[in-house]
Amino acid sequence: MMLSNKTIVLGVTGSIAAYKAAEIASQLTQAGARVNVVMTREAVEFVSPVTFRAISGRPVVTEMFDLASEYSIEHVSLAAAADIVAVAPATANVIAKLAAGIADDMLCCTVLATRAPVLIAPAMEARMYMNQVTQENLEKLKARGFVIVGPGAGWLASGKEGLGRLADTSDIIDSICQMLGKGSGLAGKRIVVTAGGTQEPVDPVRYIGNRSSGKMGYALAEAARDRGASVLLITAPATTTEPAGVDVTRVGTAQEMCEAVENATPGADALIMAAAVADYRPARKLEEKIKKTEAGLTLELECTPDILSAVRGSIVRVGFAAESSNLVENAKEKLQRKGLDLIVANDVTAPDSGFGADTNRVTVIDREGRVDSLPLLSKRQVAEKVLDRVAELLAGAER
Ligand code: CTP
Repeated sequence: MMLSNKTIVLGVTGSIAAYKAAEIASQLTQAGARVNVVMTREAVEFVSPVTFRAISGRPVVTEMFDLASEYSIEHVSLAAAADIVAVAPATANVIAKLAAGIADDMLCCTVLATRAPVLIAPAMEARMYMNQVTQENLEKLKARGFVIVGPGAGWLASGKEGLGRLADTSDIIDSICQMLGKGSGLAGKRIVVTAGGTQEPVDPVRYIGNRSSGKMGYALAEAARDRGASVLLITAPATTTEPAGVDVTRVGTAQEMCEAVENATPGADALIMAAAVADYRPARKLEEKIKKTEAGLTLELECTPDILSAVRGSIVRVGFAAESSNLVENAKEKLQRKGLDLIVANDVTAPDSGFGADTNRVTVIDREGRVDSLPLLSKRQVAEKVLDRVAELLAGAER
């Protein structure tokens, strides 16, 4: 997972939104990151360092003392150890100091001393945010490569509505993941991911579908996004929330998915087909709802196009194989038949695996016949494993 074992400096400044930083620290810590919180003197007026100490399980650096903390020359050691520095919330004041290179507190010293990427999540009154000086300062920081997240619009502490609310915790964490992911093999790559289960209409109200939740494909899209890829998610109906920060094309039938994939793949580096595509569809779609009769009903079905086999060009192709028996044998046959680089096979009858589950136990097989049986993992962890292999294949293609 992108955040585990990462060292994150979370800078908290004196904004009403400082309490929201506790949730950010908590989520980062739960995801396995080491969170070193640095608070400005003003921030301590809003939230006690004790809160962050308890949440992160690590010393908190404040402006007041800290000779007792584990950081020797703090701004230097904190800055050097950081994989990323995130200032959330960032006041107009701290933004101005950073833009001017003023290092009169521990947080600004750390930001100036670090070589890690820096995220700034502004939070302030709408008028302060819209002020030309603040805007110019933010532009300066952007030009230096800082990533600015938010602010959002909504209720502000002044009692007015406006632009200046701290970005949502999930957006800040997504951005941190994306920034950490840059350079892990997929930066600048174009990846097309399919997900969900196609629905093949029988009549105006009925369809033939399957139990796909979309979770595996969506996890792949998110993980590829976090590694810096530009991602197109082509999704059939799914029950999972669509990820932010990726392009999304929604389709219904196998035919529509086929057309969307054919349009998207020229120029793409990889196609990952996690969608559960119907193999058959009704030979005729009836315009009128089928009426019940005593005689029963026989539906005539025809084959849908095989999307993976239809995609041409030098693109890395990854398929999934949902099997209920002879997992490796069947998956190897599919890999051959569809001309794939990689196939991810899962036993849909295994507990906690496959359709609808949050976890998956998969076996990854490549063209050379290497078989890698992975333990039960979260779908996100499976996605990371698959993308490690995709990154290897893409790096191999470049050599
Ligand atoms: N797939 C596809 N086009 C289809 C059907 C499936 O591109 N019309 C893709 C799936 O997205 C998956 C892979 O092919 O990545 C294997 O799908 P699966 O349904 O397991 O394979 P089938 O070829 O349909 O074989 P079978 O159903 O007989 O096991």
